[in-house]
Amino acid sequence: MVKRNACVFISGYGSNLKSLILKSRDYTFPINISLVICNNKNANGILYAKKNSIPYFLVNTKNKNFEEDILRKIKNYKISIICLAGFMKIISKKFIRNFRKRIINIHPSLLPKYKGLKTFERVLFDKEKKTGCTVHFVTEKLDSGKTIVQKTFFIERNDDIKSLKEKTQKLEHKAFSEALIKIFRNY
Ligand code: GAR
Repeated sequence: MVKRNACVFISGYGSNLKSLILKSRDYTFPINISLVICNNKNANGILYAKKNSIPYFLVNTKNKNFEEDILRKIKNYKISIICLAGFMKIISKKFIRNFRKRIINIHPSLLPKYKGLKTFERVLFDKEKKTGCTVHFVTEKLDSGKTIVQKTFFIERNDDIKSLKEKTQKLEHKAFSEALIKIFRNY
């Protein structure tokens, strides 16, 4: 199987990155992680890139031209797909158009419900019966592209923000790899 080169964008803990790195060791998994882009020099996720000798690039998203810096870097790696894995910066329409249908994002809710931030707080406040995560194509509208994989679980009476986050992230790790398998199955 010919593996595609993926670039993973992160900002924080990097549990989705870690899970993708583990999965990509399997020769049947459709991608290799060729590059990690991070906009937070203190992000734990960088350690996973370092430990696994994956090149990483620290980008300063306060800089107006940060997307050009990313594009320059990405060009060297023949990237087939960009995976947004907790990248907490909105990317521009221009950048998205450059990679049409080749950027995917993981979001901690059952989209189209609870787009944006503080999803767990809002789910609890609304007394939802279930929640979950969504992997979707990134389009110019925030958290609105076509769903690739969605996973759901029922909320229990004693669930709080912390437990919802833990349960959601467990599902996210499965959902992300399933989405990549689904995308590349027909290539
Ligand atoms: C994930 O739960 C992801 O769904 C969320 O950030 C977390 C990153 O965790 N993304 C968003 O909220 C995007 N709107 P990780 O750094 O441990 O992979």
